[in-house]
Amino acid sequence: MRYILSILLLLTLLTVTTTADAGYRDIFGKEFLTKPWAGGLVEESVCIECHTSDIIKPEFRDIPQEWKKSWHYHNDVSCENCHGGDPEDAEMAMSPERGFIGTPKYSEVPEVCGKCHIGILKNYLESGHGKALKASKTGPNCVTCHGSHNIQKASIKIINESRCSKCHSYERAKIMKQALFLTEKKIREIDNDLKKLRSEGVFTDEEDRSLFRTHVEYRTLFHTVNVGLVKKSTDKFAKKLGLIEEKIDKTFKELEFRKNFSAFLMMVFAGLGIVIFLLARTYKD
Ligand code: HEC
Ligand code: HEC
Ligand code: HEC
Ligand code: HEC
Ligand code: HEC
Repeated sequence: MRYILSILLLLTLLTVTTTADAGYRDIFGKEFLTKPWAGGLVEESVCIECHTSDIIKPEFRDIPQEWKKSWHYHNDVSCENCHGGDPEDAEMAMSPERGFIGTPKYSEVPEVCGKCHIGILKNYLESGHGKALKASKTGPNCVTCHGSHNIQKASIKIINESRCSKCHSYERAKIMKQALFLTEKKIREIDNDLKKLRSEGVFTDEEDRSLFRTHVEYRTLFHTVNVGLVKKSTDKFAKKLGLIEEKIDKTFKELEFRKNFSAFLMMVFAGLGIVIFLLARTYKD
């Protein structure tokens, strides 16, 4: 019996997580991509097949393995989405005729990533970093901070001394991290509250959506590397997050009330049961 129960539990968990992923991708696609990228998890393609074989030099051979650990892999972004080319035709795979662009140059990387991350590209190009990259190749590009193949979900942890003190003092980076810290913390708290509500069986689609949008919009802001702007926008984001919080608080209160009310009902029924039982006995006697 316990065995069957755990299988059932696992199945429910599986359906819950897969639908959540699909929702996430839908929202992302609608809001941020100019054209949808083909669905279906890419496990194999001629790129991957050939690039894991012996004809590739050893220092390149690990790239497909790296990529399989990335957040992009889990979101069906594959080799050809960044490098172009034809993943179905081994002979023409790396032909410019099929859109192959090879390895993007240091200063061209932002445009490759910005095909999909449109808002970020815009903020980045207007920033001190983007301008320095275009003027003299001295600014960091996307890969400097995120890597290229094993790209993970982003957070302010990316801002650290070893990464941010290569070109200027860490002090400037640290001020930025401080400015982002409180809002990030609030976002995490709300996210945890929503998880709690979902585990209680509450439908939180609308709140999930607002939080997702607000979070994405907020995280795009970092790429301006403009501390003044981040500080100024903090109030605006605090307000937006406040609204989501209010709704969540209300739902928690309702849940509490419902729980208390059902406990109350249970007591009433139990009481009634006892009364009926006693009455029945008196009647018999
Ligand atoms: C039949 C084998 C084969 C296939 C298929 C293949 N590649 Fe390659 N690729 C190579 C070889 C060989 C190199 C040269 C690297 C080396 O010297 O080991 C290379 C180099 C590259 C490079 C870096 C060099 C450059 O031109 O800038 C990229 C990027 C690349 N391939 C991407 C892809 C993508 C994307 C696909 C699928 C659309 C693909 N490859 C399909 C064999 C292949
Ligand atoms: C998210 C975009 C992205 C994806 C997906 C991606 N690459 Fe790359 N790749 C890059 C960028 C950017 C560079 C250049 C910067 C660097 O070397 O890290 C690069 C560099 C390379 C190079 C040259 C490495 C070197 O040191 O010169 C090869 C080979 C390559 N990629 C193959 C692949 C293969 C094979 C896949 C699929 C398994 C793949 N890439 C998936 C963005 C991507
Ligand atoms: C100087 C380092 C740095 C550079 C350069 C950089 N990023 Fe980021 N990126 C970050 C940090 C830090 C965060 C997390 C910000 C946060 O959590 O508030 C982030 C967040 C992100 C996110 C997640 C936010 C979201 O809206 O989903 C994406 C996607 C992203 N960056 C893509 C890019 C692209 C594309 C480029 C190049 C055009 C780029 N980044 C350049 C440091 C950088
Ligand atoms: C073909 C479209 C496409 C290209 C090109 C692309 N990405 Fe992405 N990227 C996505 C999708 C889809 C996701 C998953 C949705 C999400 O998490 O935002 C993602 C997620 C990310 C994340 C994690 C965002 C998060 O939620 O924390 C980062 C960081 C990122 N990409 C950076 C890059 C960088 C850097 C490049 C270029 C080297 C790049 N991307 C190229 C489509 C793309
Ligand atoms: C590859 C070199 C390089 C790296 C790595 C780098 N920066 Fe920068 N940064 C620059 C350049 C170049 C400028 C613009 C010129 C200047 O103001 O010194 C700049 C400017 C800045 C500014 C001031 C922008 C303004 O408009 O006043 C901040 C804040 C900043 N960087 C934060 C960071 C953070 C945070 C990191 C690490 C995640 C980082 N940088 C990593 C090169 C770099």
